[in-house]
Amino acid sequence: MAQISAQALPTPAQVARDVLIEAFESFDIERIAISFSGAEDVVLIDLAATILGKDVPVFSLDTGRLHPETYRFLETVRDHYGIRLEVLAPDGAEVTRLVREKGLFSFYRDGHGECCAVRKIEPLRRKLGELDAWITGQRADQSVTRAELPTAQEDVAFSTGDHPIFKFNPLANWTSSDVWDYIRDHDVPYNPLHDAGFLSIGCEPCTRPVGPHEHERNGRWWWENATDKECGLHAQNVAPRHVRIVA
Ligand code: ADX
Ligand code: SF4
Repeated sequence: MAQISAQALPTPAQVARDVLIEAFESFDIERIAISFSGAEDVVLIDLAATILGKDVPVFSLDTGRLHPETYRFLETVRDHYGIRLEVLAPDGAEVTRLVREKGLFSFYRDGHGECCAVRKIEPLRRKLGELDAWITGQRADQSVTRAELPTAQEDVAFSTGDHPIFKFNPLANWTSSDVWDYIRDHDVPYNPLHDAGFLSIGCEPCTRPVGPHEHERNGRWWWENATDKECGLHAQNVAPRHVRIVA
C-alpha cells in the first residue's frame, strides 16, 4: 500500500486557497463576494488577495451596532489591501420601526431573531439579489450548529426557484489555532478586540469576552442556548438541508 507522508498533505491555507480559486473560477467576479464580519475572518481576504490582488470583492453588513474598534478595523482592512469594501446598511425605516416598538435592546428580552432579521438578514438578502455566490469565514469548530459545515454548498436559505445562490466556506475545516497561526505567520492585521479577550466578534451588545478555556461561542448571545446561536445569516446550519457540492 502506498505510504502518504504527513508532508504531502495540503496545509489548511492551501485547501482554503484552492476553494477560493474554484469559487472565483466558477462565478463571474461581479457575481461573487466575500462576506467579512470585521473579525478573524480577515484571513479570507488575505488569502483572496493572493489570487485577485486589489480586486477582491468584499462586503460587510453594518448593523449599526458594531464596536467602534470593528468600524475602525474595517477601514484598516480597506487601506491595507487597497480593496473596494462595500459596507451595507439596514433599511432605515425598519430599524426605526423596531426601535420605536421595542427599544434598543429587545433581543435581551425576546431573543436576537427580530433584530438580526432587520439589521443583518434583510441587507444580506438584498445583496445576494445581486450575486450568485458568496464566501463566508465560517468554521466547523465554531459551533455545534456548524459541525458538519462543507466547504461549498447550495445556500438553500437564500436561493429562490429562479435564482440559486451558492455559498463557499473555505475555512470550514480550519481550527481557531490555524486562523491565529496564519494571522501571525503572514502579519495579517486583526481586530484589536481579540487582544481584549474577544474570540468571536459580532455586534457590541451581543458579544462579550470569554475566559481562558471557554468556548468562543459563549461570548455571543450568551443568554441563549448554544443550538440557537445562528442569526439567520447561516440559517441552513440549523435546518439539515444543506447540499454538499464539493468534498
Ligand atoms: S454569525 O452569524 O454568528 O454572526 P459569525 O460571526 O460566526 O456569524 O461569522 C461567520 C461568518 O459570517 C463570517 O466569517 C462572515 O463571512 C459572515 N458574517 C458574520 N457577520 C457578518 C457581517 N456583519 N457582515 C458580513 N459578513 C458577516
Ligand atoms: Fe441586533 Fe444583536 Fe443581532 Fe446585532 S447581533 S443585529 S445587535 S440582535
